[in-house]
Amino acid sequence: MVSTRPLGTRKVLVTGGGSGMGLAVAETLLRAGGQVAVSGRRAERLEAVVRAWPGQAVTLPCDLASPSERTGLLARAREALGGLDGLVHSAGVVEHQLPGHISEEALRAQLEVNLVAPLRLGEEALSVLEDGGGMVFIASTLAMRPLPTSAVYSAAKAGLLAAMRSLAIAGAARRVRANAVCPGVVDTEMVRAPRLSPGEPTPEGEELERRISAQLSTLGALHPLGRLGKAEEVADAVVHLLGAPWTTGSELVIDGGLLLRE
Ligand SMILES: NC(=O)c1ccc[n+]([C@@H]2O[C@H](COP(=O)([O-])OP(=O)(O)OC[C@H]3O[C@@H](n4cnc5c(N)ncnc54)[C@H](OP(=O)(O)O)[C@@H]3O)[C@@H](O)[C@H]2O)c1
Repeated sequence: MVSTRPLGTRKVLVTGGGSGMGLAVAETLLRAGGQVAVSGRRAERLEAVVRAWPGQAVTLPCDLASPSERTGLLARAREALGGLDGLVHSAGVVEHQLPGHISEEALRAQLEVNLVAPLRLGEEALSVLEDGGGMVFIASTLAMRPLPTSAVYSAAKAGLLAAMRSLAIAGAARRVRANAVCPGVVDTEMVRAPRLSPGEPTPEGEELERRISAQLSTLGALHPLGRLGKAEEVADAVVHLLGAPWTTGSELVIDGGLLLRE
């Protein structure tokens, strides 16, 4: 049967598909009747998606920091799903460190997963996605408005936006579109990791909970709309861009007004 759903949303590879915004994107696509290959390192997270959506979802475990593991991921997704018209890159890592305290390991990991891997996946997508397909990259408002602790993450996400625009031009001849979303702070595992001062030990037990709860309140209050974003709110925008036939090279800010602040 020929699908009537928009190209870009039918058979989709979602990196970071086991948690947070990637999981929300996968679930939004699956609810609409799409097929999804979820990728990430934690196999148990991915298998939970397949158990919940038998026959519609497959797992492709992969460490995107490893060039040998990530190479060919798009072709494997196409094989597993019997075609591929969409890519969502949601996988990402952040390590907040002040200049002077940026470790080589954290620098390399953030550049690899947040910039090099999506660029490589996007390159593959240009040849593997069907004509008219779509790719969406999750960047961040930190690409435009960095924090003192986000030099590497901000540089990687800003680079990702530049790469996305280049992929959009390269894909246009086959109507393959590339777009990005720039979320403000969204309530996922990523923002529930405590932000510590240099050398500060990780608190435990109730103190850890108190610290995270205070951190979430502080972050939520930074947004003019008064709260953190929800993964589902970003997922709706991602799915819109995946299937938008005349939108390419765009950056959609979804940030509760964060970038409007002085
Ligand atoms: N939460 C926010 O406030 C916020 C704001 C703006 C942008 N973002 C961006 O949004 C995206 C999704 O993050 P999230 O907030 O949904 O947090 P999350 O739940 O922590 O999701 C991050 C995902 O990345 C995957 N990942 C990390 N390292 C990987 C690696 N080496 N190989 C393969 N997969 C890897 C993780 O899966 P495994 O651990 O299983 O590998 C996880 O599913 C990220 O790109 C993040 O930078 C987040």
